[in-house]
Amino acid sequence: MYQAPLPQEYADLSPAEADARIVAAKQKLGKKLVILGHHYQRDEIIKHADYRGDSYKLAKDANLHPEADYIVFCGVHFMAESADILTPDNQIVILPNLAAGCSMADMANLFQVKKCWSDLERVLNQTPELAATAPNAQRPSPTESAPHIPNPAPRIIPVTYINSAANLKAFVGEHGGTVCTSTNAPTAVEWALRQGDKVLFFPDQHLGRNTGVKLGYDPETEMVVWDPFKPLGGNTEEALRRAKFILWKGHCSVHKRFTVEQIESARQTHPDVQVLVHPECPIDVVRTADYNGSTEYIIKTVEASAPGSTWAIGTEINLVNRLAQEHPDKTIFCLDSQICPCSTMYRIHPSFLCWVLENLVEGNVVNQVKVPEKVSHWAKEALQKMLTVCA
Ligand code: 13P
Ligand code: SF4
Repeated sequence: MYQAPLPQEYADLSPAEADARIVAAKQKLGKKLVILGHHYQRDEIIKHADYRGDSYKLAKDANLHPEADYIVFCGVHFMAESADILTPDNQIVILPNLAAGCSMADMANLFQVKKCWSDLERVLNQTPELAATAPNAQRPSPTESAPHIPNPAPRIIPVTYINSAANLKAFVGEHGGTVCTSTNAPTAVEWALRQGDKVLFFPDQHLGRNTGVKLGYDPETEMVVWDPFKPLGGNTEEALRRAKFILWKGHCSVHKRFTVEQIESARQTHPDVQVLVHPECPIDVVRTADYNGSTEYIIKTVEASAPGSTWAIGTEINLVNRLAQEHPDKTIFCLDSQICPCSTMYRIHPSFLCWVLENLVEGNVVNQVKVPEKVSHWAKEALQKMLTVCA
């Protein structure tokens, strides 16, 4: 998304000035305003959030204040879209910097997903048994034994990670699938596999694979990766027919940086360390770690741990540093010593927050995120499905 440059007055603010002006604007707006902050936001932003959470919690928190006129979402674009879809029409959702996207969400677009879907439908509708009954297939002679009734074509259910554009959520809603987050992916995928025979999971192959493994599926024999830039996603028809999981070839550039070597090195330097990683990490990292789970799970696990315990964490650095500050009785560090901020989350700078809030005080709405009705109808279906199935 294009973000116009900040007015010079805001670009020139010192950190202390921006902070004081955000507090003052917030006070003036009172109950008209709710600020939501994702855990990966920097401290100078998260301190102003009325609610903090991971993407699942914030999708629900967005609905807590129907009386508020404005929801300012300090997170990334797909989160603001989801908040707009889930809140009443009269509420205005604002993203302080429209350039705060998500590189993973950008790895799948509607054109590619539609092409994948039609390829899969064609291949799955032509299982050898069904092909034999196609209109132009050879008919059995009247002397042949009783007609064979073929199994119906396998049904595929689309599941999109919440880290995706609203039009992909709409595609999923329209095709009988659901949204999931890293908190509820196993429940959502289990549900999908009760509705059909296979899951098309996008855009994060790692969350899809780690979830399938959690549910007892074999990544070698039951999962294939769909590369949108290759014919049939880079697969044979036979492999697509066999697969239980078709995993989109997308990833998070932050969580992909974590490695098994980093875990081994943390265990060497801190023999009592416990390793805790996000399920967007590659499978060898998740398997080598002691625990894995969503952002909210990571926080709760550290909170519940014994004083004096040591944690190496594989997730975004703002959250890891905050956990270290909030738990001085524990040793907490990031698995990646080179530091790995999410550059798009980082685009929510205090100067942008100050700019949107002061505009609201003046009665001007800037940076509204509004999903068109024809998209939001089906996207809401998919989000509501998640909230119902995973409640
Ligand atoms: P959570 O679902 O844990 O909030 O993760 C969102 C995200 O973007 C992680 O990279
Ligand atoms: Fe997207 Fe990864 Fe940033 Fe999350 S951490 S918003 S998945 S790029």
